[in-house]
Amino acid sequence: MNLPVVVLISGRGSNLQAIIDQRDHGDLPVDIRAVISSRADTEGLERARRAGLENVVVDREAFPTRAQFEQDLVQRIDSYGPELVVLAGFMLILGPDFVRHYSGRLINIHPSLLPRFRGLNTHERALKAGVRYHGASVHFVTPDVDGGPIIIQAPVTVRPNDTPQTLASRVLEEEHRILPQAIRWFAQGRLSMDNGQVLLDGHSCAHQGTGDVESQAMTTDRSPDGMAS
Ligand code: GRF
Repeated sequence: MNLPVVVLISGRGSNLQAIIDQRDHGDLPVDIRAVISSRADTEGLERARRAGLENVVVDREAFPTRAQFEQDLVQRIDSYGPELVVLAGFMLILGPDFVRHYSGRLINIHPSLLPRFRGLNTHERALKAGVRYHGASVHFVTPDVDGGPIIIQAPVTVRPNDTPQTLASRVLEEEHRILPQAIRWFAQGRLSMDNGQVLLDGHSCAHQGTGDVESQAMTTDRSPDGMAS
């Protein structure tokens, strides 16, 4: 049986597209029950429509408080019966009640090698910090924003002439690879969160989140230079 998922987006939706494409190629056993956007008129909603997916907008601005917004969001999501909720470029911070409701079945893609560069503008900040390696992470979501246990990371080598845009585009390619990978593991019943730890095939990923590239390379199927190894 395909894994029922709901995907939350806020904008362009290229990660959503990667999920759709891999599903269409038969590489990702998911049933995308719905795409929910926190904004109207997004490219991501258009992608959902083109793929024939149920798509809705839940606009934060339409609710007086975050609690009311999140209650509505939970009701919507739960009405589709997902076993996994995927934050694929969802740009709002979700509160502890929401996060706890989906504990162990809520994952997020973040454009940095966590724990470095939580939050926004990660590519600019990575360049400013002069790091050799930047990248992307998929993690389980916990009330600690961008601090949940890491499932998979992909390093990208920073080049001397990189701009935030050139770096972002190479990181995005990796996002499109590792987000579907994490979903695939979950769909195959291989991935879970137990006691705040990631379990893959029953084993704890003890090397995760150390922020050093040697460990991060172990979580990917590529070397830190981005070459297939
Ligand atoms: C991605 O870089 C994601 O990591 C970040 O926002 C961007 C969304 O891109 N949170 P898209 O909407 O999937 O194209």
